[in-house]
Amino acid sequence: MNFELKPLSLVEAASEKCDVLLVLLTDSYKPAKDGFSAFVARTIKDGDTLTKAGKLLPLYKHSMAQATRVVLVGVGDGSPKQVRSGVLAALASVKSDKLKRLVLAFGNASTAASIKAAVASVADASYSFNTTKSKKEDNPLRDVLVAVSNATEVQASFERAVGIVEGVNLTKEWANRPANYATPTLLAKAAQAIATKNSKITCQVLGPKEVAKLGMGAFMAVAQGSDEPLRFIVLQYSGAAKSQTPTVLVGKGITFDSGGISIKPAAEMDEMKFDMCGAASVLGVFRTLATLKPAINVVGLIPSCENLLNGRAVKPGDVVTSMSGQTIEILNTDAEGRLVLCDALTYAERFKPRAVIDIATLTGACVVALGALRSGLFSPDEALANALIVAGDEAQDLCWRMPLDEEYAEGLKTSFADVANVAGRSGGAISAAKYLQRFTAKYPWAHLDIAGTAWKSGASKGATGRPVGLLVEYLLASRVVPQGSK
Ligand code: BES
Ligand code: MN
Ligand code: ZN
Repeated sequence: MNFELKPLSLVEAASEKCDVLLVLLTDSYKPAKDGFSAFVARTIKDGDTLTKAGKLLPLYKHSMAQATRVVLVGVGDGSPKQVRSGVLAALASVKSDKLKRLVLAFGNASTAASIKAAVASVADASYSFNTTKSKKEDNPLRDVLVAVSNATEVQASFERAVGIVEGVNLTKEWANRPANYATPTLLAKAAQAIATKNSKITCQVLGPKEVAKLGMGAFMAVAQGSDEPLRFIVLQYSGAAKSQTPTVLVGKGITFDSGGISIKPAAEMDEMKFDMCGAASVLGVFRTLATLKPAINVVGLIPSCENLLNGRAVKPGDVVTSMSGQTIEILNTDAEGRLVLCDALTYAERFKPRAVIDIATLTGACVVALGALRSGLFSPDEALANALIVAGDEAQDLCWRMPLDEEYAEGLKTSFADVANVAGRSGGAISAAKYLQRFTAKYPWAHLDIAGTAWKSGASKGATGRPVGLLVEYLLASRVVPQGSK
């Protein structure tokens, strides 16, 4: 899909030839002095609540517009949330295989936030997954023209939003693939493909031998229950001088989580193909970095394997030694995410990072706590936590800070090792974070539990592409801007 931003007034947008013209109207719509704008103003006046977010007025072959169909779309106060609900409602109402060219016109000036929301929601509404279907229903929507009167003002936000869409779509693609189309080996190939196409990105892939040499005993313990070999993926984006310390992103890459010997119940177990959404979001961020080319350095680490159960599978009670040297009693083989992550977190030390953020579909408890709206954010570092919250707001990819009091680590104590991999049922998202925290003493660290936000269940089952938006906004905001330049 091709996004374009043009400086056009509403009447100019109406003269663009296209299949559908969406006109976004806020409560404070002020008409310009032309016939089409006056018509819109009259319609609002007569149809009292037309500008309420999500309200639509469809028009067919209107005499004052070149579009086949025009939809007047209420976007309320013009906030990102209301723009999103308006655009999603409008696109649901015109869903057709004939929608090839879309013009999205702002009735009045747009803002950085409303432009971003508009671009993200058009992309969301027109996404479809085809990889495993015999008949590829290629998405017909080719061109999206965003028409605003104040294009120069919002150009940078527009470009950032389009860059994020590319990453989000790549994340959705890999996250949605079933486990037999997204093995650790295939994920590594996807990472290598991103690197091959971009001179600023390199990719190194470690296999079982190299991982054993590093002493990643926790990661290996999870992988040993499957015939599919593990992969440890190291991506590096170098957009700035070597002297600039990198941010490290660590993505949980369990391509299928059966629970292992502590096996999960059958219902909805298919959804555990999404247990590599953290990894997919790291791939998505690198895809976006390749497009936006910001002057920063970023490292992506993906420990990837299956959590299955064969004759060699790790058993409850087994004690393993992590790369950090800490021994771990595996009381529940279904708490495998933290096992693969802890070794990746130790590996991250070698980059002397300015910050390490891990992203993981880590706990069902986080879904209970926060549902599908906000990802769980855990960090002992105030500045890092606040920066991530701001980035989430900026991207409309929300998170919520959770506590890390020492008392929450109490249940991880055991007589048989330095730490157990599970505590009691209560506060499960927090004790998981407390476990991870033990491996992060050497750098500022944050953990995003995306178990509730990375995919949707039910009728609209599918990956959301989150938290690519949040991460990209965070990374771009962390750029060191030289004094005196913009
Ligand atoms: N991948 C799951 C977490 C999960 C479960 C995400 C359901 C989304 C929906 C993780 O590996 C897991 O199984 N966690 C266990 C931890 C428990 C054994 C302490 C859980 O949440 O039940
Ligand atoms: Mn599990
Ligand atoms: Zn898991």
